[in-house]
Amino acid sequence: MSSDLTDLKSFDYVIVGGGNAGLVAAARLVEDPIITVCVLEAGEDVTHLPDIIIPGLSFKNMGNPNFDWSFQSTPQVNANDRTIHLLRGKGLGGSTILNFMELARGHEEEYDAFETLGAKGWNWKSLLEYFKKSETFTVSSNDMERFGATVNPLFHGTEGPLHRTMSKWICDAHMPFLKTLESLGIPFNPDCSSGSNTGIFHAGHAIDPIEASRSSSATAYYEPVKAKRNLKVITGARATQILLKKDDVPRTVVAQGVNFIKDGKELTVYCRKEVIISAGTFQTPQLLELSGIGSKATLDKYGIPVILDLPGVGENLQDHFWCPFTAVMDSKYESFEVLANPERAVQEMELYEKSKSGMMSTAASSIFAFIPPTKFLSDIDVVRSSLKSVIASTPGQQKAIDIQKAWFENDNIGHLEFAPFPGFMPAPGKAPVPGKHYFSLFAGLLHPFSRGTVHINSSSILDAPNIDLRVLDNEADLEMMVQAIKFSRKVIRNQPLSGMITEEVIPGPEIESDEDIKDWIRNIIQTTFHPIGTAAMVPLEDGGVVDAELKVYGTSNLRVVDASIIPIQISSHTQATVYAIAEKAVDIIKGSMRS
Ligand SMILES: Cc1cc2nc3c(=O)[nH]c(=O)nc-3n(C[C@H](O)[C@H](O)[C@H](O)COP(=O)(O)OP(=O)(O)OC[C@H]3O[C@@H](n4cnc5c(N)ncnc54)[C@H](O)[C@@H]3O)c2cc1C
Ligand SMILES: *[C@@H]1O[C@H](CO)[C@@H](O)[C@H](O)[C@H]1NC(C)=O
Repeated sequence: MSSDLTDLKSFDYVIVGGGNAGLVAAARLVEDPIITVCVLEAGEDVTHLPDIIIPGLSFKNMGNPNFDWSFQSTPQVNANDRTIHLLRGKGLGGSTILNFMELARGHEEEYDAFETLGAKGWNWKSLLEYFKKSETFTVSSNDMERFGATVNPLFHGTEGPLHRTMSKWICDAHMPFLKTLESLGIPFNPDCSSGSNTGIFHAGHAIDPIEASRSSSATAYYEPVKAKRNLKVITGARATQILLKKDDVPRTVVAQGVNFIKDGKELTVYCRKEVIISAGTFQTPQLLELSGIGSKATLDKYGIPVILDLPGVGENLQDHFWCPFTAVMDSKYESFEVLANPERAVQEMELYEKSKSGMMSTAASSIFAFIPPTKFLSDIDVVRSSLKSVIASTPGQQKAIDIQKAWFENDNIGHLEFAPFPGFMPAPGKAPVPGKHYFSLFAGLLHPFSRGTVHINSSSILDAPNIDLRVLDNEADLEMMVQAIKFSRKVIRNQPLSGMITEEVIPGPEIESDEDIKDWIRNIIQTTFHPIGTAAMVPLEDGGVVDAELKVYGTSNLRVVDASIIPIQISSHTQATVYAIAEKAVDIIKGSMRS
């Protein structure tokens, strides 16, 4: 539909943020022809740019201001005062146009914890229906043979908009990685979508099986409905404030519309039913605070009139943290270093264009291991005793941390994410030697105990918020990471991987003692771009921001639908869960519409 602004008026629903969740909500709502929806997206429509759509090019986009917000954290006191680069997709599709296309679900106990923490009806069983509703899983006979993939309809969707496929191209280290980890006691998991994602599994990707192109919320949800007359999507539209009115009887705050800037002009769009904020974990709390919903102390600091004193806004930030581990691999095995040869790079591109195969056709990581504590920790007692250093700042956080401690002891859920990457991973002070081939391990903490914050840093939406990850704010996370590095060393010394690898380069053998490894970690630790939790769906008295219907406490028609509502981190890349949350949200919204 045209984005001619002269016909702007009011819509049933105004959605802020045409990202992962926002476009799911929009596309599902406009299925009903009498419902009108307006989406405001700050970025542009970049869906079909080659750098976005060709899976093998996805790494090029990190930091590109045309489609990455490229936030920086505040200086992290426990990481040598470094700021950490925080990528976020900007444009239709949001982070699904920038991400690495891994598409997987967490563990059923993690979703059940949403309900334990107070969100009635949010559990694995109910979300499974929405995981399935969101996707079409396509499996070739080759996938069945090579990966043992199955299409059990209990767990896999067949009619959803989003594509999920297995890797078309896998690196030479893929199967050796599997064999080596199996020899270390980590079991193969034949279906990570079934509610248990623990163990080693072949990855699924948000990639179209025929075109071998990225499947994003823009291609999957928006494009099929974009011509509908009841949908209006405005790109280049930056929401500055939700318009709120206080009603005395009943005592509630009503959202009336949204102010936004487009082409330097200040405009307003009004809602007849609801405003839905889907601006993501960093910008949703920012917009709430700028609209007068947040802790009074924060709002007072920037002279923003307090409409609702809601101290949970922007608290409870959780992410996954990781460190690289890189070794030299025998050059007879292929790695991404081969693409440094221009001739080979052209060949790979031609292969992609002609047969939709080769290195460009797939996401970088084709296999993962999600490893429970006792399987990678060499000294569990050190971590156990450091758990007392974990800090909670709200009752809800304390409850979530208690659940995490139970998971740590039960040894059933992955705490370390481990994935092979056929190439060098950047690290300060280290550079690849031309001509050499590298093998890296991605070692990430799936359940770090740290809790950060996101708050405004000025009274303008045009200034980035203050994002304090509080990475390594407790000893337990640091100890787990130290032991993850030691485990990485063990992995590359075991067959068959050991037969392919010659020497470790990152961290490097010179970094040996625990103290040295800790210093190195503080200098390099970064996030995997899975932030959640800053508009947490927990009870108000526990520090919550939204209720189990995703309505902001104290409002009658303002909802949050995006990753910020997730109350406790999951052992998974986050996009599949965001798709499922948005699908469920629409059913909740439609349900409340009928009543
Ligand atoms: C580099 C990177 C790699 C990742 N890799 C993976 C992966 O491989 N697998 C996986 O599962 N997950 C991955 N993730 C995470 C995953 O993509 C996100 O968790 C998920 O897509 C977030 O969805 P969302 O709807 O919460 O936010 P987003 O998709 O980020 O959407 C928010 C949208 O709101 C817009 N917006 C913000 N503020 C405003 C405003 N004021 N006015 C108007 N619009 C606004 C933004 O431009 C954006 O389009 C990755 C993320 C990144 C950044
Ligand atoms: C926050 O504001 C201060 C003071 O204006 C500035 O120095 C700092 O860089 C800002 N932080 C971010 C994340 O923009």
